[in-house]
Amino acid sequence: MKVTVIGAGNVGATCAYILSDKNICKEVVLLDIADGIPQGKALDMWEAAPVGSSSTSIIGTNSYADTANSDIIVMTAGKPRTPGMSRDDLLAANIEIMRSAIGEAAKASPNAIIIIVSNPLDAMCYTALKLTGFPAHRVFGMAGILDTARYRTFIAMELGVSVKDISAVVLGGHGDTMVPLPRLTTVGGVPFTELVSKERVDAIVQRTRDGGAEIVKYLKTGSAYYAPAAAAVEMVESIIVDQKRVLPCAVWLQGEYGSKDIYMGVPVVIGRKGVERILEMKFTAEEQKMFDHSAEAVRSVIAATKL
Ligand code: NAI
Ligand code: 2OP
Repeated sequence: MKVTVIGAGNVGATCAYILSDKNICKEVVLLDIADGIPQGKALDMWEAAPVGSSSTSIIGTNSYADTANSDIIVMTAGKPRTPGMSRDDLLAANIEIMRSAIGEAAKASPNAIIIIVSNPLDAMCYTALKLTGFPAHRVFGMAGILDTARYRTFIAMELGVSVKDISAVVLGGHGDTMVPLPRLTTVGGVPFTELVSKERVDAIVQRTRDGGAEIVKYLKTGSAYYAPAAAAVEMVESIIVDQKRVLPCAVWLQGEYGSKDIYMGVPVVIGRKGVERILEMKFTAEEQKMFDHSAEAVRSVIAATKL
């Protein structure tokens, strides 16, 4: 399989590196508008392969011709936020980047599956859907895996246990209104809500919602990229290996969870065809209210795309 990563910045380059190191695809193409940056980073990564054990080739380029017939495109091009900005503040700049990049990428690889990472995530998924005309099961976004990973990490820190044993899911839009679900969170099968006080559960939920901003505050010049890149690669791997992983991803809802014509984070089965199934569950009244509130927030950013 051939995977193109658009954007050779922090997320894109890290994504290309993790992916190539996994040795699960034949070729990774790293594309950016910056002259020399994708070429230099890709060559450096390829030169790391003999030290590790990967046979994946990595090409850096500024030309979409080199991305032709990719099976998967990971779209990471776009400005990251800096302290004081919300993800939604990135819309004006990143919609222009999306306009200049995604159509060309889709033309070069008409059968590709597109994974969006650029923010504001849910609205960028919508933009890509409209600009490419691809079917919705081939255009979806990475956010829920990252938000859930942060939530699981904070729980592991709280309890002093392995992150591996924490089973959890964070749904909704990728913003301050995201919906972590403590009711469904377990630690080695034990309900999380029985292990800590309600105050601690609430504090961890809030830290999860602020998880992106916490990193921005430390970095000052940009946003998180190690966990985001690892999360995007998890999606790519599920497609390449046809793993049928059940992962929270931003997908086009057509009535599921009471929402229509909107991208929202929900649990889906990811396999060789892209989004193969949306799993639905019954929310409590309070969870539904939070999900609907999150949908309202996403809808207003989608409306601002004017597409
Ligand atoms: P970065 O600034 O390190 O990299 C962005 C790259 O995009 C730069 O190398 C730039 O030259 C490139 N670029 C700009 N316009 C382009 C174009 N038209 N075609 C090709 N490349 C272009 O930013 P970083 O940290 O990699 O973040 C990228 C995006 O991902 C941001 O919008 C950020 O908010 C988003 N993000 C989303 C996450 C999520 O959970 N969905 C998590 C982390 C970041
Ligand atoms: C994050 O949550 C920037 O959306 C990105 O870190």
